Amino acid sequence: MEDYMKRIGVIGAMEPEIRKLQESMQDVRIVHKASTEFYEGTLDGHPVVAARSGIGKVNAAVCAQIMIDLFQVDLLLNTGIAGSLDPQINIGDIVLSTDLVHHDMNAVGFGYARGQIPQMEAFSFAADPALIELAEQVCRRVNPDIQVFRGRILSGDQFVSDQAVKDDIKKTFGGLAVEMEGASIAQTAFINGVPFLGIRAISDKADGSAVMDYPAFEAKAAMHSSNLTMGLIGQL
Ligand code: ADE
Repeated sequence: MEDYMKRIGVIGAMEPEIRKLQESMQDVRIVHKASTEFYEGTLDGHPVVAARSGIGKVNAAVCAQIMIDLFQVDLLLNTGIAGSLDPQINIGDIVLSTDLVHHDMNAVGFGYARGQIPQMEAFSFAADPALIELAEQVCRRVNPDIQVFRGRILSGDQFVSDQAVKDDIKKTFGGLAVEMEGASIAQTAFINGVPFLGIRAISDKADGSAVMDYPAFEAKAAMHSSNLTMGLIGQL
């Protein structure tokens, strides 16, 4: 009997983050749902569904739930770019999520910690440990010239381009990188019991230089994340 092959859902918010994977897929069928194109096919024989969700947490969560309900994915990967929260992490480097938190969730007035979703037990949404391990090994092989880190990723409906905002997020939550979708995909995966991993390459430092750096380094960073995602799929 043939081994069961996992069906892998991959979400990127923007075109440069998902295009290479979609172009590399075989036997593609495009399914339209919720204003999104879902590419269903294979990558080197592995069943894959890849979609550009659009930017922000709502778009990403809707996309993740469709991946689970309509395409029955067995695991979810989020590939893309992020701002660095740590001086050791350079533009182009990769951060693998250990867990993700919504940095813009705030019910402090009711006694909750910042980031805590009221009436939910979980504070952060953990990535799958085996996926983190495997992704780190693959990254050293496919992106040998950059560093790879594991740590918390913060998500919010906000492009962080101000040193004071960055400092506040770092002081409150710790973490290595900030972006605009991951926690919502991780949360959707969590409440559906689907394993998840966030893969982000750094495009900027999430400070006053971010608006200049982001367009300059977007393509290169997106390529690192995409290389790793495709390499990882080959190992699953
Ligand atoms: N994605 C890439 N850079 C980012 C930043 N500085 N803030 C939020 N999302 C990002």
